[in-house]
Order: sequence, then C-alpha cells, then structure tokens
Amino acid sequence: MIRGVIFDLDGVLVTTDELHYQAWRQVADREGIYFDRTINHQLRGVSRMESLEIILERAGRAYTPEEKSALANRKNHLYRELLRTLTAADVLPGVQALLAELRRRGIRLAVASSSKNAPLILSRVGLKDAFDAVADGNDITHSKPDPEVFLLAAERLGLLPEECLVVEDAAAGIEGGRRAGMAVFGIGTPETLPKVERLAAGLADTTAEGLLGPG
Ligand code: BG6
Ligand code: MG
Repeated sequence: MIRGVIFDLDGVLVTTDELHYQAWRQVADREGIYFDRTINHQLRGVSRMESLEIILERAGRAYTPEEKSALANRKNHLYRELLRTLTAADVLPGVQALLAELRRRGIRLAVASSSKNAPLILSRVGLKDAFDAVADGNDITHSKPDPEVFLLAAERLGLLPEECLVVEDAAAGIEGGRRAGMAVFGIGTPETLPKVERLAAGLADTTAEGLLGPG
C-alpha cells in the first residue's frame, strides 16, 4: 500500500526546466556548441556536471577540468539570476490541489531532486512547508538514475521504499525510482517517457486516485 508520494521538483512541481534550458543555451551559444530543446530533455534529472558533459559531446574540442568547472559555474550563475524571477505563479497547474487531496488521504509527501538549488526554489515559490521531507542535490553523492535521492527521501519520511510512489518527468528519475524499489508515475508523453505505463501530461491531468488507485 502506498503511504508516501515522492515528487521530483524541476518540471513536475515547478516550471524551472525551462530556466535550466535558457541558462544552458546561453552557455552553449557562447561556446559555439549546438544545443536545442531535444538535447535539453536528456539533461532532466541529471546533475549539473553530468548535464555539461552531455552538452560538450557536441563541442569541437576537448575541455580541461578547469574550463568545465568554469562553464558549470557560469550556468549556475545565469540560472540563479533567472530563479530571481520565480514566484508562486511558477508552481505548475494542479500541484496545490493534488498536494491537498493527498494530504486529506493521510499520504506523506516528499521532494527528491538532483538540484542543489532545490531549497531556494521551494522557498521562492512558497512550497517550503508543503512537504514532510526534502532530499536534494546537496544531500547525495550519486545523482539520478542512482536511487540514492529517493531512498533518502523515503527514509526521511519514515517509510519503506515499497510504500512510496515516485512522480517524475525524467527518464533518469523513473529509472532511479524503479531501482529504489518504488512504484513510478510519469509526467510526460509516451514519446518523452517510453516504457512508463502510468503517465499524465501534467499533475493537472491526474488526481490522487489516478496516482494511488482507488481506495
Ligand atoms: C534536476 C534538473 O532537477 O537538477 C536537471 O532536472 C539539473 O536538469 C539538476 O541539471 C541539477 O540542478 P542544479 O540546480 O543543482 O544545477
Ligand atoms: Mg524533473
């Protein structure tokens, strides 16, 4: 029986996936590296440095570790500038109603994010106190698709992995949730998340019953 729901942050609860895209786009453009929204989709759920490695696959030359570190820092600086514009209006449609409905059913709620900016984002959009537990990029050694962040979120909820459902928009996150031994629910389409049976375009397109089943 599901007793806790563990939400991904970027692209599931908040519109920040677009801001990640804009920041990486500025970095890639300045380096003359091709980058588009399809490539950006591969960056969902993976850490900042791993995202950079995916972008650099299309670079015309090798980058030193120092250059990589400078590029990652530049992206984070640009991204955090964009985060300053974030408000409660950037919480995705359906989130507040769904969280309230889950709470009414006594379900415990957590966030599991690869982002080191998760605490800042949650506080900017007013969701800081909406969850019983948060596990993020500052707490983990291995980013999604490793199960670490999900296992930590479950532990902080005081629940067993099999009592948790993971809600994710990233293939890496779906894999991480499965490897953690949890049920998974995808936010996306059969094209963006192939091989995910239970899927909705956004949280506005589902209900607590849609996530948990009848009961
Ligand atoms: C994830 C995003 O939530 O966080 C990824 O989906 C991002 O795209 C990762 O790379 C790390 O984020 P940050 O904020 O620590 O650079
Ligand atoms: Mg995401």
